[in-house]
Amino acid sequence: MMLEVRDLAAAYSGIEALRGVSLHIEAGEMVALIGANGAGKSTLLNCLSGTVRPRRGSIRFEGHEIAGMKPHRVARQGLLQVPEGRQILVDLTIEENLQLGELARGARPSNYGLRDVYQLFPILEERRTQRGGTLSGGQQQMLAIGRALMGGPRLLLLDEPSLGLSPLITDQVFEALRGLNDTGLTILLVEQNAHRALQATQRAYLLEHGELAFQGNSSDLINDAKVIAHYLGHLPTD
Ligand SMILES: Nc1ncnc2c1ncn2[C@@H]1O[C@H](COP(=O)(O)OP(=O)(O)O)[C@@H](O)[C@H]1O
Ligand SMILES: [Mg+2]
Repeated sequence: MMLEVRDLAAAYSGIEALRGVSLHIEAGEMVALIGANGAGKSTLLNCLSGTVRPRRGSIRFEGHEIAGMKPHRVARQGLLQVPEGRQILVDLTIEENLQLGELARGARPSNYGLRDVYQLFPILEERRTQRGGTLSGGQQQMLAIGRALMGGPRLLLLDEPSLGLSPLITDQVFEALRGLNDTGLTILLVEQNAHRALQATQRAYLLEHGELAFQGNSSDLINDAKVIAHYLGHLPTD
């Protein structure tokens, strides 16, 4: 078991955002976490990566308890998040942004380098000497993923990678994620675009008001009437 979350709870100024969430991820899996806006998806990822401190519960990553650990220490263990909104450095070049990503790795050996990132996203190599701020939204998302790869992830967390991207660029990003997973990277994918996320993954969890409402095979969730009605935007009879 690569990641085992038990009874996780989190709150903002006393208002609960996660209540008793348990989930697990096996090495090599690509798992989706879906749910409506405000369901607690980002809070859950942020608890895993250490930017939100859980008020209760356990997070075991590769056998170590990491709940409440600082983000840089979590990252050094190989649990890396591509944040919502990308957060790239607009005044640095693309290559400098990628090199900064390497700092997260600490002393662990590298499993991804510049060449791997450029092979995955050739546009980043073409534009490697340009500033981050000159990139389109889709290219910035690619850079954010590339930067996380440079940190040597064993588990990669993504928060809404398709947000604001065109369907064509979304396809490219999802294809890259599928390729990374096919070559062994374990991925937890948070998406509001439930249909895309379920199509790209083997297993999925559905969050509703801070609680797990469903879990199962992504293909089963795609066919589940309640999921269809609430999250895929059309009625099951369509
Ligand atoms: N920094 C914050 N301060 C206060 N409330 C927050 C904060 N971040 C999220 N929340 C609240 O916590 C709940 C879950 O939010 P979030 O985890 O961002 O959901 P999602 O990512 O699924 O849209 C929401 O009710 C949201 O308003
Ligand atoms: Mg969110």
